[in-house]
Amino acid sequence: YVYSILAAIAAYLIGSLSFAVIVSRLMGLNDPRTYGSKNPGATNVLRSGSKPAAVVTLVLDAVKGWLPVALVKWFGPPYGLEDGTLALVGLGAFLGHLWPVFFRFQGGKGVATALGVLLGIDWLLGLATAATWLIIAFFFRYSSLASLVSAAFAPAYYLFGDRLAWYTEKPILLAIVAMALLLAYRHRENINRLLQGKESRLGAKAK
Ligand code: G3P
Repeated sequence: YVYSILAAIAAYLIGSLSFAVIVSRLMGLNDPRTYGSKNPGATNVLRSGSKPAAVVTLVLDAVKGWLPVALVKWFGPPYGLEDGTLALVGLGAFLGHLWPVFFRFQGGKGVATALGVLLGIDWLLGLATAATWLIIAFFFRYSSLASLVSAAFAPAYYLFGDRLAWYTEKPILLAIVAMALLLAYRHRENINRLLQGKESRLGAKAK
């Protein structure tokens, strides 16, 4: 268990790298926590008007979810690190993004990082979830709505991909469900804005 806990802590520390803030600083842009939704995430960085900064944020926030899971998959088994650890490190990275130790625990909403974790668990699962996000975003032009719908679908995709998952890989399924619930919780302001018709459209710049 010691290795599993250490791996989860390491993943949490990696997840705590808030790339929206880091990338914006390095590219000389305003701090995303000061404009738009004030969320340190790729969607809000896009509101700065810099597409490259948003894309780099998206990719790096996803990589920090993907990498710990992939590392456990590749190098874990000889040390007895299996699905339980996989679930723990995925959750660790995700929690780091939401409550980053390096940024006074003021993190983001977890969309890109969750996607990275899903891609690490199974690239098809990640791809199906990303495709869901793109379809909803394309038709409705709300990043938050696309994120909420994709999060709701992810556990179903996981079960669909492996009908035995409920018995054999319970920890991973539980981690995916936990991520979806936390992601929805972090979107509560977005949900209110969506209901009131006040949510900002994808790509609209911050005033
Ligand atoms: O990826 C986060 C997105 O779902 C919502 O972001 O900035 O519109 O609150 P934001």
